Amino acid sequence: MDNKNPDIPVLAIDGPSASGKGTVAQQVARALGFRYLDSGALYRLVALAAMRRGVALDDEAALAALAAKLDIAFDHGEVWLEGACAGDEIRSERCGAGASSAAVFPSVRQALLARQRAFRLPPGLVADGRDMGSTVFPDAVLKVYLTASAEERARRRYKQLIEKGMHASLEYILQDINQRDARDQSRHAAPLQICGDASFLDTSSLAIEEVVAEVLARYQAAASHSVA
Ligand code: DC
Repeated sequence: MDNKNPDIPVLAIDGPSASGKGTVAQQVARALGFRYLDSGALYRLVALAAMRRGVALDDEAALAALAAKLDIAFDHGEVWLEGACAGDEIRSERCGAGASSAAVFPSVRQALLARQRAFRLPPGLVADGRDMGSTVFPDAVLKVYLTASAEERARRRYKQLIEKGMHASLEYILQDINQRDARDQSRHAAPLQICGDASFLDTSSLAIEEVVAEVLARYQAAASHSVA
């Protein structure tokens, strides 16, 4: 099922870890009055649930079963797992790495497909992840591939953690980003890749507001094109 629905436009934003996709996608969604899907949160929730239940992160069948029946809710910017707010916990590096491991399995991705497509509701959706444009919403009005150098992404994440009062090591974060990029790009199932029809945007030297304005301008251009 492709879930194509030209009446409900999708803006897909894909890119590597710590590229700022989440912040940009949320601000773009707000500006357009669209819904927002943080697809990485679904993979992070699967990893968190697995770790809590003692399910190994290499047990594909158990992870897929978990992904299919997990009690997940998104409400007012908060993420809920089995009735409890999981917002802070899923943002940890441990959950990020666990998500990247669980995400290599095709049956886990398949189990999350319909759940992701269910976010496509009027008046439109901004979805961020790794395979939004290539697999989940191939008919998106605009597909943006957002990236920045690994060093710049590591600096941004370091700053975020320090601002939250958390302990962080720039060297460790850079190493983690490089490892996660390698795993997300080399997996067989829906790897992180720049789709042929994606609009490339390197944010290394741009402020968030500039990136948001640029994505909105590209979206308006693509949307007016698609109705012409
Ligand atoms: O965007 P994020 O850092 O929250 O994603 C966490 C991990 O989940 C990421 O390393 C790879 C995986 N992921 C994925 O495979 N496909 C997506 N659409 C989103 C995330």
